[in-house]
Amino acid sequence: MTPPPQTARLALRQMDLRDLDDMAELLGDPRVMRHYPRPKDRAEARGWIEWNQRLYHEHGHGLWLLTLRADGAFVGDCGLTPQTVEGQVDVELGYHVRAELWGNGYATEAAAACRDWARDVLGLARLIAIIDPHNHASQRVARKVGLVEQRRVIREGTQQLIYAMNPHDAAP
Ligand SMILES: CC(C)(COP(=O)(O)OP(=O)(O)OC[C@H]1O[C@@H](n2cnc3c(N)ncnc32)[C@H](O)[C@@H]1OP(=O)(O)O)[C@@H](O)C(=O)NCCC(=O)NCCS
Repeated sequence: MTPPPQTARLALRQMDLRDLDDMAELLGDPRVMRHYPRPKDRAEARGWIEWNQRLYHEHGHGLWLLTLRADGAFVGDCGLTPQTVEGQVDVELGYHVRAELWGNGYATEAAAACRDWARDVLGLARLIAIIDPHNHASQRVARKVGLVEQRRVIREGTQQLIYAMNPHDAAP
């Protein structure tokens, strides 16, 4: 299994149940989950970790845990998950950063590395992001790594924007 990408400031690694305190705090924060139906409780955060562990096993990728290389501090998650949109399965680039650390460029830095990993390791010709139309910070990150708004869909009862790109269009 190819290890996840690393960046100048961030270490990415597989998450496991030892990360439950950090992930429960991240996914339980109403600021981070503002564009989700509701914050996740601890059992749901555990489910999130177990879902990603299944993805690592079945696909070799998932959302990876982000920490600061400088001091090991927990930052959030970022990575690649299969998602079905209107019957088509694509790989989504996703990211969640602790609210205290927003605005430092961490999501963009991690997302660019995951985009390159999707191109170089998976050879993907299409990468998507599914984003709430009101989630302007997420759309900004998506655009900064090269994703382009493609269309609007109804997914699980809510409107979502589909951003997409060919990762090969991002120069190595
Ligand atoms: C989206 C998210 C991951 C961004 O994390 P981050 O580390 O702060 O992102 P970055 O610092 O790399 O970049 C954020 C960009 O969004 C911009 N931004 C932030 N809030 C914004 C807003 N309300 N409207 C428009 N742009 C906004 C920032 O200015 C920055 O762009 P810039 O570099 O051009 O100034 C973070 O806000 C988050 O965790 N949100 C909750 C989880 C989430 O919604 N994830 C995405 C699900 S689709």
